[in-house]
Amino acid sequence: MDHFNYADGVLCAEDVPLTQIAQAVGTPVYVYSTATLTRHFGLFRQALEWTDHLVCFAVKANSNIAVLKLLGDLGAGMDVVSGGEYARAKAAGVPGDRIVFSGVGKTAGEMRQALKGGIRQFNVESEPELELLSQIAASMGLRAPIAVRVNPDVDARTHAKIATGKSENKFGIPIARARDVYARAAGLPGIEVVGIDMHIGSQLTDLAPFRQAYEKMADLTRALRADGHAIRRLDMGGGLGIPYTRDNAAPPLPIEYGQVIRDTVGGLGCEIEIEPGRNIAGNAGILLSRVIYLKQGEGRDFLILDAAMNDLMRPAMYDAHHDIVPVIQPGVGASVRPYDVVGPVCETGDTFVRGAQMTALAAGDLVAFRSAGAYGAVMASEYNTRPLVPEVLVSGDQFAVIRERPPVEEIIARDRIPGWMG
Ligand code: LLP
Repeated sequence: MDHFNYADGVLCAEDVPLTQIAQAVGTPVYVYSTATLTRHFGLFRQALEWTDHLVCFAVKANSNIAVLKLLGDLGAGMDVVSGGEYARAKAAGVPGDRIVFSGVGKTAGEMRQALKGGIRQFNVESEPELELLSQIAASMGLRAPIAVRVNPDVDARTHAKIATGKSENKFGIPIARARDVYARAAGLPGIEVVGIDMHIGSQLTDLAPFRQAYEKMADLTRALRADGHAIRRLDMGGGLGIPYTRDNAAPPLPIEYGQVIRDTVGGLGCEIEIEPGRNIAGNAGILLSRVIYLKQGEGRDFLILDAAMNDLMRPAMYDAHHDIVPVIQPGVGASVRPYDVVGPVCETGDTFVRGAQMTALAAGDLVAFRSAGAYGAVMASEYNTRPLVPEVLVSGDQFAVIRERPPVEEIIARDRIPGWMG
């Protein structure tokens, strides 16, 4: 459920008509709903209320500090994967002891930054990383709390580019080596072992791979405890999928996912962490865009929008589908026709959908891409020197610009002409 519905014939974000936002801020623009973010975060909390837990929002999905503050104020932790995301979480007021640092390539500088600013745990992904982290923490007179990210070699049955839990993926330590790595960790002066971490992929629409992976985690917890390690936290990762269309069967609900966690690791007495991103933010956002031209091609009509692949990369990158709906509600029985919906960027990959059945649209009309709140704005680029798309947050009948559209002059001003060019 989200809070983007038609009222009086106009698509609204909560109580704000999208026409009003388009007029005030221009298009393209991302629009997020406070009520939807709040509701989705609450569903995960509820799914884990049977145990001590922390829901760490995966900042990579939507890193605007207003979104992070909203979730942080509700009690969320944050899962970050770079010094930049760590700084955003801190700027949003999230305390260090609610920040988990993941990622395969943490640098020495990022480790120092997090140790200095406070950290709940590092999810360590390799032995060289473990050694470096120990050295740095010890040199600061600290012990870094860690979980080792274990790769369970489970097929997440999702898009190949976002599956992470198979042995051929770059992520984590092979589960067969985990006991050796924990033994090494226990002997390092700058390391404190606190738990185990896993993340098997994103947009999972089936609970079976989670169950398979978490059963392996339960076995590993028992084995590591038998080896003498104090495993008190389990980080189950993120990855629960969302419905991207209204006609498909919906993926499992957070409450069902929570039950899988309970069934598999619930009896171990560990604090549970999860790192959902898409499921909290995905359906809490839309990308609002305007039709620039309607162009008749050979046997097809192109709807040319002012949003492009640089603003919403997912279709070009993963062949992802986002429902595109008109902001002005079509009349009952309005006829539909096929459109190829494209952006202005100069490559054929800048195609959002081919042959989509939509009600007739004309230049100047507004459309909304649904389910664009996660991995939308964060993946945007300035390709074709198109300014980064702005973001708006709605709450009830209020809205605020939470990231401004930068002027082109500001983008160009970052470039430098070398002195030798005169
Ligand atoms: N934790 C870790 C360690 C992750 O790598 C990810 C996502 C998450 C949590 C959050 O997963 P989620 O709950 O959002 O599925 N750009 C792609 C998605 C990449 C996901 C990468 N890792 C897309 O647009 O589909």
